[in-house]
Amino acid sequence: MTSRRLVLTRSAALIGAASTGLLLPARAQGAKIRVGLMLPYTGTFAQLGVAIENGFRMAIDEQGGKLGGREIEYFKVDDESEPAKGIENATKLVQRDKVDVLVGTVHSGVQMGIHKVARDSGVLNLIPNAGVHIATRGQCAPNVFRTSFSNSQPTRALGAAMVAKGHKRAVWITWKYAAGDEAFEGFKESYTAAGGTIVKELGLPFPNVEFQALLTEVAALKPDAVACFFAGGAGAKFMKDYAAAGLKGKIPLYGSGFLTEGVLDAAGPAADGVMTTLHYGDGIETPRNKAFRLAYAKTFKMQPDVYAVQGYDSGLLMVQGANAVKGDLSNKAALYKAMESATIDSPRGKWTMSKSHNPVQDIYLRVVENKENKVIGVAAKALADSGAGCKMG
Ligand code: PHB
Repeated sequence: MTSRRLVLTRSAALIGAASTGLLLPARAQGAKIRVGLMLPYTGTFAQLGVAIENGFRMAIDEQGGKLGGREIEYFKVDDESEPAKGIENATKLVQRDKVDVLVGTVHSGVQMGIHKVARDSGVLNLIPNAGVHIATRGQCAPNVFRTSFSNSQPTRALGAAMVAKGHKRAVWITWKYAAGDEAFEGFKESYTAAGGTIVKELGLPFPNVEFQALLTEVAALKPDAVACFFAGGAGAKFMKDYAAAGLKGKIPLYGSGFLTEGVLDAAGPAADGVMTTLHYGDGIETPRNKAFRLAYAKTFKMQPDVYAVQGYDSGLLMVQGANAVKGDLSNKAALYKAMESATIDSPRGKWTMSKSHNPVQDIYLRVVENKENKVIGVAAKALADSGAGCKMG
């Protein structure tokens, strides 16, 4: 993995330090660990980025603000969920800010930019949301770890749950980009395997929220149910538009659980009864989840959601890795080994890292009730992504 570019970058940095009289051993034990946060702070996914940062900071603050005994310095870039700027923004953190670890991001398209930079530079990358398959399949890498999900993981548990309710003809609606297309892959597989038929796939480009024409088409098609992938503010708007179009109560609405995360206040009664599958739920009845929710609400004056949990778990993973090497992140073999073998004691439930660096985790069936994502069952136990084509080089 040590690429030529990385070696050049390192030596250039050393020459720079020498000329200013500041030559220290590389990654000196005493120096601060440089953490880069590349997340959306504006646009449709702004609230997702904030929740991830909150969760990450919370995990580190529980360690007295240190990683493996070393202080931390944060560097932040707003990626705007803009794929065209992905490489440039990641490069800023790696080349200009010289981060030891890059935490990011939310949007699968932007992730592909980070992924290229991570693979070329060898910098440690923790993915706290974006589910793009290739990052932990065909282009998996020793220095890239995902703490969230692969895009088809939540929906792989959705199809059987819908058929069990007697809904055998469904329409699928999504944003047309990697996250939605790959979520469809999981839905299609699980729904058809359970005996369901997908009567139509509908879509619109990210981040559009003009749902009207699509909802008119749903009304005409009269399926047994609708399944979808939307997230952030668009999720709230989709559920409100669905109700306003007169479909709520007539055609049950299902989704990948992101639909109802972080937006239940905004969606109001339109969200009631919406059923989804996801690797988290507000109502997980464990002391671990309850303590997390209480502490998060106290610190940030808002309720946590799946994004906060994913950020928190990225912090927990980093803590385990850094502690194993006593803060010496340059000991990559030992650092990655510790991260690969970690069990994360998460608010979502304990999870482990697959060989391709993606969580092996339970997927819950949830229903919205009184502004809460209530957990009503486990839709899939210890679900792993296939990791197809992953060869750790
Ligand atoms: C993604 O682009 O991978 C993505 C974005 C938001 C979500 C889930 C996945 O809630």
